[in-house]
Order: sequence, then structure tokens, then C-alpha cells
Amino acid sequence: MDQVLIFDTTLRDGEQSPGISLDVGEKLEIADQLARLGVDVIEAGFPIASDGDFEAVEAIAKTVRGPVIAGLSRTSFKDVDRAWEAVRHAERNRIHVFLATSELHMKKKLRMTHDQVKGEVAASVARAKGYTADVEYSPEDGFRSDPDFMCEVCQIAVDNGATTINIPDTVGYGLPEDFGKLIGYVIDQVHGEFIVSTHCHNDLGLAVANSLAGVANGARQVECAINGLGERAGNAALEEVVMAIRTRSDYFEGITTGVRTEELARASRMVSRLTGYPVQYNKAVVGRNAFAHEAGIHQHGVLEDRETYEIMDAGEVGQEAAQIVLGKHSGRHAFADSLEKMGLHLQGDALNQAFVRFKELADRKVRITEADLEAIVAEELGTGVVHKFSVVSLDVRGGTVSTPEATVVLSDGDGKVDATAEGNGMVDAAIAAIARATGVSGTVLDFNVSSVTGGGDALGDVVIQLEVDGLKATGRGVATDIVEASARAYLAAVNRIIRMRERPQTRDIEVGP
Ligand code: KIV
Ligand code: ZN
Repeated sequence: MDQVLIFDTTLRDGEQSPGISLDVGEKLEIADQLARLGVDVIEAGFPIASDGDFEAVEAIAKTVRGPVIAGLSRTSFKDVDRAWEAVRHAERNRIHVFLATSELHMKKKLRMTHDQVKGEVAASVARAKGYTADVEYSPEDGFRSDPDFMCEVCQIAVDNGATTINIPDTVGYGLPEDFGKLIGYVIDQVHGEFIVSTHCHNDLGLAVANSLAGVANGARQVECAINGLGERAGNAALEEVVMAIRTRSDYFEGITTGVRTEELARASRMVSRLTGYPVQYNKAVVGRNAFAHEAGIHQHGVLEDRETYEIMDAGEVGQEAAQIVLGKHSGRHAFADSLEKMGLHLQGDALNQAFVRFKELADRKVRITEADLEAIVAEELGTGVVHKFSVVSLDVRGGTVSTPEATVVLSDGDGKVDATAEGNGMVDAAIAAIARATGVSGTVLDFNVSSVTGGGDALGDVVIQLEVDGLKATGRGVATDIVEASARAYLAAVNRIIRMRERPQTRDIEVGP
């Protein structure tokens, strides 16, 4: 088989990144984009982890078509049954069972003997197989396991019906040569019909290199995440794995993926926007500078022949220079048309609302790009989740002489609430006024300002991480003005805290099976 299956775990391992907590609507939006991108498998979540996880996996299984929808499970039957309940409606479904095989994990975390691990894996894979033909088994901490014991457990999984054996480098300890050899060893030692997969963490910055070494040694599935999200330093970045295989087809002879690479940049922007995790400017493939040339010599070379300094075409990954799609004279029709082309299908009230926000923006900003549109529409409409509060108006006064003061008017669905507050700066005043009006105040843990596109008239994009009574939420706001963007970001975080209070999303999973 010369196709490497792309198993996306943005919604499971990626969502385990500190501070990320996506709601069902946001997960559905990402899953739709992953399907548009053409990934083979979407690991939609860990259904036993919380009711929120279960609902999201179930909703994705019911509505997203194309990729296999997988749910993660420990080896207990309770987990396997819950995973099945969540994925059963999918066009094609998979149960992904994991149990560690390293001495350290077995002794310290699981407190299980070798025989117990073998028995658990046999029973749970068989249980999963009773539900679906497509079962994956992962020996967690595989890279640090005794290879012979790990292969013995993998053989048990295959004998009980596992069709994919995924070798995780759970703590990102592997080096490409060793990890590649381990994949070759598993292929030699474990017999039967199954696909070998990689799952590499990035603790030493080697997740992509290790995954590619796995592919070179026979792995035909790579587990990865958009923008490299995941526990700690993250997982292998999907966009880098895919583009390495494509760009170095001379090395990966005949090996391909089914990914529509022109969708990579949009997927990256969407995941960044919804998770609140910014993409570093110089990030390979999807960073905003990935195709920018600064030095005069480079610019000259690229003008003569793009290939002097570029090994990929920006258009190939959907990163063509931000095109101007609309301006202040564009009508509703052109607006709706542009959104459709970007895969945003809005109708009725939602379209009207987005059009009003677009017109406001067009009055202040001459050139509106695809990235601007995406950010503004998404921020305005969210994912169909009803927000408790929305901004009606914001008035901020002050500067270096007088104490900054802000007055905010918010709609709370039933009517309007307003408040005025002072702060040590205009952003601080706006945030204080919102806190007073909503009755929700906490600690701002993180405050990040960037611009959606380049240029002096770029939209300001603010991400705020807020902690209120132990609950952490991220909010994002986009506007031509940084103070307004900050206020919108703070309010988005407040709305999310309110939803979390109404619906706790606890992840109270024990480590053992
Ligand atoms: O890193 C890991 O080992 C995992 C497994 C659940 C596959 O995420
Ligand atoms: Zn992982």
C-alpha cells in the first residue's frame, strides 16, 4: 500500500493541550474542515472522559461524512462500550483502545503485571471487535517499552481483531533512526493483516522527523494534529508531515496522502482561532512568514525564479498572498458568494448579521481579505452556540493624561446591561466595565495581540485566557481597534465561563483500566 493514512487527533490529543476546551459546535466546525481537507481518520475525542466529549464525538459521528470517526478508549469494558455508543452512527467508525506496555507505566501508573496487561488488551480488543470491524490498539509509551514485550502485546491485539497497531512515542523521547527501526521491528515481529501507525510527541522537536522515519520504515498511518497541537510540546504537525511526503516524493517514492493540501492554511487558521493557540510566524508550511522573503538577495532571486528560495508553492498549501476579496461597495450577493467559496454557508438571519458586521468593517478598512472575512464571520457568529452577552456599544476615554474610563452596553438576550469602570489603561478599563456589567470577573492569565493580515490597517486579533473560580476559558476578539478587539475577546471568554458553569466538562479519568 503506497498511501499513508492521515489520522488527525486535533480534537483528542490536541484538545488535551493546556487551556484548550472546545465546545461541541467548535469541534463540529473543525471536524467539517478536516473532512474538507481529506484526512482519513478523525479521532473525535475520548467519549468516557466527560459528557461534553461524548456529545461531541456523537455529533461528529452523526454528521461528518468522509473520514472514519474514531473514539479513544481505555481497556475497561465501560470505556469501550461508551466509545462505541459515541461512534456507532458514523458512516465508518473505529474504536481506538490503548494500554501502556512500558515497565515504568505498568509498575507506577497502572500497577499491573505483564500478564494482566496481556489479558486486558485481549479482552478489550475483542470487545471492541464485537462492535466494529475497525479496531486500533496503541501500546502507550511504546517507544520506551521493551520491544519484545510490546510486540507480544501487539500480536495479542492483532489476534483478537485489531486492524491498526499504533506505536506511540508518548513522551517524545525517540530519535528518528531508532524510532524508524522500531517500526521496522514491529512489522517483522507481529504477524497478520494490520496497518502500522506512528504517534509521535514533540518534546525534543522531533515528532515530524520521527513520524517520517516511521513512514520510511513501513508505517502507513501517521497520527498528527493541525498546528502540531497536543499534550505538552504537542504531536507531529499534520501540515508538515503531509507536505514533507509530497515535496520529497523523490525520497518517499510513490508514497502519497489523500490530503487536499490547498485546505491546509484554512485548517490551521481555524484551529488557531478556535483554540486560541497562535501559530508562530515562522512555523513551517502554515506560518505567515513561511513564504515571505525579507533579504533583498532572496527577493531578487524569487522574482527571477520562485524556486531559487521556495521548495513549495504558497498556493499549494492555501497560503497565497491574502487576496482582496471585497470592499466597502460590495453588496450582499458578492458577500454571500465570497463566503460560499470559502466553505462558509450562511443563510437568513446569520447571513444578515454577518453582512452588517462586514459593512461596519468595510467602513473602517479599505481592503478586506479572505482571512479578515473568515475571522470576522467566525467571531460574530461563533458556531451556532448562543452566547449570553453580546456587545451593543463600547465607549472608551483616556490617554496618558487622564485616567482611562470605559462604558460598555451589552445585550443579555432579554434586554441591555451597562457599566462604567476605570482602569490603568484603555484595555484594562474596557475589561473592568465588562466584568462589572456581566458580574463575571477573574484573572487574565494570558493576553495576546496579533494582526489577522499584514499592513497598517490590519484587523487586530486578541486572544485572552481568563480564570474564574478555577475555570479557565479562552476568548478571541477581532476588530479594527485593539481596545474593541480586547473587549470582544474578554466577553467571549466570559460567555464561555458562563457555559462551563452551566455544563461542567470535568475530565475525571483515572489512569488505570
Ligand atoms: O501519546 C499517547 O501515547 C497517546 C495514546 C493514547 C495513543 O496519546
Ligand atoms: Zn499522544
